[in-house]
Amino acid sequence: MRAPDSKAAVAYVLANRLSVEYNVETGWRTSPGGLVSALDSALRGLNVVWVGWRGSPVPEEGRGPHPAPPPGTSSMSVLEIPMSQHEVSHFYDGVCNAAFWPLYHDAVVDPVFRDEEFAVYRRINQRFADCVAASAPLGASVWVHDYQLQLVPALLRAARPDLRIGFFLHVPFPSAAVFELLPWKDSVLHGLLGADLIGFQTGASADRFCEEVCQRAVASRDGRDLVLGESAHPRRVAVDVFPVGPDANRFETLSATPAARDRAARIRAGFGAPEQVLLGVDRLDYTKGIDIRIRAVADVLKSAEYRGRNIQFIQVAMPSRSDLAAYQELRIRVEEVLHSANAELAALGLRPIHYVNEALPTEEIVALYVAADVMLVTSLADGMNLVCKEFVACRGDGSGRLVLSRATGAAEQLQDAWLVAPNDLADVKRGIADALRAGAGESHGRMARMRRAVFGADARHWADSFLARMHQTR
Ligand code: G6P
Repeated sequence: MRAPDSKAAVAYVLANRLSVEYNVETGWRTSPGGLVSALDSALRGLNVVWVGWRGSPVPEEGRGPHPAPPPGTSSMSVLEIPMSQHEVSHFYDGVCNAAFWPLYHDAVVDPVFRDEEFAVYRRINQRFADCVAASAPLGASVWVHDYQLQLVPALLRAARPDLRIGFFLHVPFPSAAVFELLPWKDSVLHGLLGADLIGFQTGASADRFCEEVCQRAVASRDGRDLVLGESAHPRRVAVDVFPVGPDANRFETLSATPAARDRAARIRAGFGAPEQVLLGVDRLDYTKGIDIRIRAVADVLKSAEYRGRNIQFIQVAMPSRSDLAAYQELRIRVEEVLHSANAELAALGLRPIHYVNEALPTEEIVALYVAADVMLVTSLADGMNLVCKEFVACRGDGSGRLVLSRATGAAEQLQDAWLVAPNDLADVKRGIADALRAGAGESHGRMARMRRAVFGADARHWADSFLARMHQTR
């Protein structure tokens, strides 16, 4: 990391996932999600060791290959944290994705808390900490990421007090009433407070965290810092806000290639050259509001104002965490809403919604961003959401409109989107209809301001700001 006072020190990045994942069917490919995409671009070319998991369990003795990541798939050195099938189901499926993920997203789905799974969460966090403690040079910087690794800062500090430790939470930190539901809250707060710096996506998350810590008398507040202990040498933990951005230049460059332009034109032609294209791109996750969005679009297309118009909606829903019941139920619910919406549209002779339930490569997503007129991001809760910022980065000609949920971190920076309350069907419909009818003058003005926001705070800026702040902490 760019440590002004320790250029020689190797720095470590800890995230549950490596930048590439392995699956026996697909082989190696880029890992899903905004965290990997932001980190990979922010840290490319730096002397960083990425510590993480390959996204699949180690095969049982004598069963199947466990190949090393092929050279060139990651721009950084890699230290792999292995997990058995049992650990994956308790740590990843259980605590990470059935407890913390729904809880930190306003408990939109009921979280499930199992103590025997939390014991495995603790063990995996210890494994990450041990890996770094055993290999990091004296005084090295370590940057720990997200809800999967909340115990690592304190575990690492206990083993290696010489290390400088930063933690960044990519998802929202919940309200006191929601955090109260967590049976392991003391362990989590203790774990996080092992860091020298804790970063959040929004001021609201940072404030909620500080209030939680102070209200429990774990620490007191001194300006932006938290102060731990009452001894003559209290320890300070800095808390600050670092909104994550995409690699805006890379997306703009990709969107301007003849291949992307040509593919975008073919996508539109393939749908019979619609007057306007609406687009949604998400992991198939219950936090993303996909079912309400489909309902809202269908209602707008059926309305008197738009019924005679030639409008195509494309929804990409990339499979995610499909071993979990909540995700299987979501898939069924989304498909039911889709089928009934398409039946209603067909009855009126209107275009069906085009639904894609597969992982698409970045180049295809970029072509869709270029092909679209109106991007729809209507998450019920979202730490940041990079899709909307990637879309903006791809609109080099200044066209394009964005309908954006107020419940995303991105809404703080993209105030020129058509902002909607994602749970309120009428408001989502209003936002979509307003964006569809906006004139070129208005939408170009809004897009120009959003592009300044996105290019002024990209992935590199995010990492630089975090690391610069981290290096001021000691
Ligand atoms: C979000 C989380 C990440 C996570 C990603 C993909 O962006 O903040 O920590 O990696 O989703 O989810 P997955 O469960 O596939 O890692």
